[in-house]
Amino acid sequence: MTQPQLLIDTDPGVDDALAILMAHAHAEVLGLSVAAGNVGLAHTVRNARTLVDLVGGAFPVFAGCPTPLVRRPEEDAAFVHGMDGFGDVGFAEPKVAAATESAALALIRLTREHPDLTLVALAPLTNLALAVRLDPSLPERVKRLVIMGGAVTGHGNTGVVPAEFNVGFDPEAAHVVFEAFPFFELVDWEATLRHAFDETEFDGWLARGDHRARFFGRVFGTARAFNRKRERRGIIAADALAMAVAIDPSIVTRAEDRHVAVELDGRLTRGATVVDWSQRLGSQANARIVLEIDQARFGAMVRTALGSA
Ligand code: BDR
Ligand code: CA
Repeated sequence: MTQPQLLIDTDPGVDDALAILMAHAHAEVLGLSVAAGNVGLAHTVRNARTLVDLVGGAFPVFAGCPTPLVRRPEEDAAFVHGMDGFGDVGFAEPKVAAATESAALALIRLTREHPDLTLVALAPLTNLALAVRLDPSLPERVKRLVIMGGAVTGHGNTGVVPAEFNVGFDPEAAHVVFEAFPFFELVDWEATLRHAFDETEFDGWLARGDHRARFFGRVFGTARAFNRKRERRGIIAADALAMAVAIDPSIVTRAEDRHVAVELDGRLTRGATVVDWSQRLGSQANARIVLEIDQARFGAMVRTALGSA
C-alpha cells in the first residue's frame, strides 16, 4: 500500500497523541493544524510540538483559533486528559517551534499544494470551518475528509447528553464543515466504544514497545483513571480509530451513507449530530458513518505505532 498523505487537525489530547503516532508510522504527515478543545490552545500547541520532538518528525505545527467560532463552551476535557492535556506528566519545553502561519491559512495552502491529501479532523472543527469560510473551494481540493466526531444515535460523552465532545465544543464550526463538504467519513463516539482494546493486551503492547510506548504509557494515566471511574470498559481511543480509517479505508467492514446535520440550538440537544437514518428528509447523504472496522487490523496498526509490532 502506498502511504497516504495526511493533514491532521488536532487538539492533543491523549487519544490525539496515539493517532499522531499511528500517522507517523503508517503515512506521510504533511502537518498538524492545532485547535483548542481538550485543553486550551497554548497546551494543545505545545503538546503537538512535544509529539514532533518525540518522533523526530519533520512536519510543521500550525496554531489555530483559541476559541470556538461563536459561543464559549462551559467545559473542556481537562478532567479526562489532565490539566495540560498530556496527563500532567511535566514534559520539558519541546525543541521544535510552531510555524508562524495560522492553522486556517495552512489548511488552505496545503490543500492547494497536495491535491491527493486526506484531511483528518480529530478536534473541534473551528480551524477547518474558518478555512472553508475563507476559501469555499477548499472542499473540492480534498480527496477524503475523515472526522472523529458526533454520536450518531445520541449516546454522547458530554454534559449535553446526546452531544459528543468535538461537535459539542464548537457546534457552529461543525455545522459549517458538514454543510461545506459534499461528503466525508464520520467516526463517531459510539463506534469508539465498540472498538475498545482489551486492557491486558494493550498493557502488553506498552510493555514491549519502544520510546513511543513509554511516552504513551505516561500520558495515558489520567484518561485511563477517568474511564475506569466512569466504568467504561477497555482502552478507548477515539482519535486512533478515526486515524485507522484515514490511513486505510479498507479497514472498514460496515458503514452506512446518510445525511448528518448538527443541532445548533435545542433546550437539551445543542451540539447533537442528527442522522436521517430512515431517509425521511430527502436530503442526499453527506456522510459515510463508520459502524464497524476490523479490530485485529486496528490493533496491528497501533502496535506498530508503539514500536511493539
Ligand atoms: C473526542 O474528544 C476529545 O476529547 C478526544 O480527543 C476525541 O477527539 C472524543 O469525543
Ligand atoms: Ca481530539
